Amino acid sequence: MDTNASFWLPPAKSTLASQTDPLFHFINITGGLILLGIVIVIGYCIIKYRRTSEDDITPNTTHNDTLEITWSIIPLFLVLIVFSWGFQGFMYHRTMPDNAYEIHVTGKSWLWEFTYPNGTTMINELHVPEDRPVKLVMKSEDVIHSFFVPDFRVKHDVLPGRYTSLWFEATDPGTALIFCTEFCGNGHSDMLATIIIHQEDDFKEWLESGVKAPDDIPLAEYGEQLYKSANCATCHSNDGSRIVGPSFKGLWEAERNFEDGTNAVADANYLRQSILEPMAKIVATYPPAMPSYQGTLKDFQVDALIEYIKTLE
Ligand code: CUA
Repeated sequence: MDTNASFWLPPAKSTLASQTDPLFHFINITGGLILLGIVIVIGYCIIKYRRTSEDDITPNTTHNDTLEITWSIIPLFLVLIVFSWGFQGFMYHRTMPDNAYEIHVTGKSWLWEFTYPNGTTMINELHVPEDRPVKLVMKSEDVIHSFFVPDFRVKHDVLPGRYTSLWFEATDPGTALIFCTEFCGNGHSDMLATIIIHQEDDFKEWLESGVKAPDDIPLAEYGEQLYKSANCATCHSNDGSRIVGPSFKGLWEAERNFEDGTNAVADANYLRQSILEPMAKIVATYPPAMPSYQGTLKDFQVDALIEYIKTLE
């Protein structure tokens, strides 16, 4: 399969593309030809039937059977072709293969979380095997999000209180981008994730190795990576500026005042609780907007984030 991007479409990296792309081109080309035909006829009529003298009166023409039947029948056939062609692709897209590898997806403001059958959890990074159908079972923890992978030609809404699903089969090792395409608040445009497509053996190896702290960099530096990759940065600045939530700069051991009138010092226990149970203590003047990272971040990742916050004096 041709995986190169064209002017019209992004690169095709799933089996669904061979269903959708020819139809896309068919609609585009016939639409273009019809537009061209109409413009030519209009141009011809403007010149041929232009008013040349004062007594040039338009005859009282009411209709033309042949013309009207023609311009009804031809578009009827065209839309029937588009319907039956599109319906085939739709059925292919919506029929989940029985042998699909299942991954759970949770959308929350504003990140994507992926959970594997063995319990491995990833934030904003979806690892999949190539040449094998993958089924995503998706839900939202808050508002409506929409899971969109242009390179795979798949898109589906992700809803609170209901599971939705989609499937794809990646055709080449490499990467693809995931977008959120439902406007879901301040961090909507940051709700990006990457798909990493592995060869089957590499995928197994990756899955078995799980998530580990890198041992070649300091914990605080790993925390800084997580600050970006887990989308903390969408709501918490590291330079003191106010975004959605309080800045991380100067947060360590600072006095915090809460909505309910109580206060506390931002020590490790406070930071840990705020990451795992963000609704427990809401800092005064800030909205209760943060999703819980319970089960999303591992203990050592929470430690790494706290170490990173300590460095932001
Ligand atoms: Cu989630 Cu837009």
